[in-house]
Amino acid sequence: MSILKQNKHNIKLIQAKKNQEKITMITAYDSLFAKLFDETVDIILVGDSLSMSFGSDADTLSITMDEMIYHTKAVCRGAKSSLVVLDMPYGSYTNKKKALKNAIKVYKKTPAHAVKIEGGEDKAHIIKHLTSNGIAVMAHIGLLPQNVRAEGGYKVKGKSQEEAKQLILDAQAVEKAGAFCVVVEGVVSEVASQISKSINIPTIGIGAGKETDGQVLVWSDALGFFEDFKPKFVKHYLEGAKLVRDGVKNYADEVKNGAFPDEEHSY
Ligand code: KIV
Repeated sequence: MSILKQNKHNIKLIQAKKNQEKITMITAYDSLFAKLFDETVDIILVGDSLSMSFGSDADTLSITMDEMIYHTKAVCRGAKSSLVVLDMPYGSYTNKKKALKNAIKVYKKTPAHAVKIEGGEDKAHIIKHLTSNGIAVMAHIGLLPQNVRAEGGYKVKGKSQEEAKQLILDAQAVEKAGAFCVVVEGVVSEVASQISKSINIPTIGIGAGKETDGQVLVWSDALGFFEDFKPKFVKHYLEGAKLVRDGVKNYADEVKNGAFPDEEHSY
């Protein structure tokens, strides 16, 4: 195994990309897709978005710690090169003690490199507790999907001066607490740019414009598999749903008309 390959599993290398090279992150929920994304992207996030895009739930709140651990184990089996991050599910980090217990469970049960926590200044004490106990933490500020029910929907952040100011305070607080990088979601591009300039750890944007240090997309959005809705920030790099539908239709047609299996696919 090359030194480079070993080194890629490393939060320090991710941090060193700030102001040097854009960081690429995509979600994955299983080994099959993790294997396909590995090496191409720097980070694979086992996002709690899996409860929506994989499980068809209305939001991310129902996924459990054990379910996240199951999917993370599968992703880690597929990802030999990318850094793997487990998204701490809603309710798993409501206080320092609970957060540490759950994060330790992640490290004991999976080879994931880090955990992700939604929240800024209000969660800094929890991030500090984790990082001072040897847990690598990716923070997540701006639009927080785990707050969707409390906020009555998904609201873009940073539209007012107060919100913009708070977002910068959030970013500085999570950096001070020891987070190695921070996801900035659903934030006005200009404010996301200011956030990126106000801290020394990398920012990874989603719906936050192009001035962040990296980008993340949910894989089923990026590859056109998720069809329920398409947020403005999502770009399809593949029409996955159409490809699958066409493929499965060809298969079913050939079974029905007797073209499959032919000699080549028979013993
Ligand atoms: O759950 C998820 O996929 C995420 C990304 C959108 C950052 O948190």
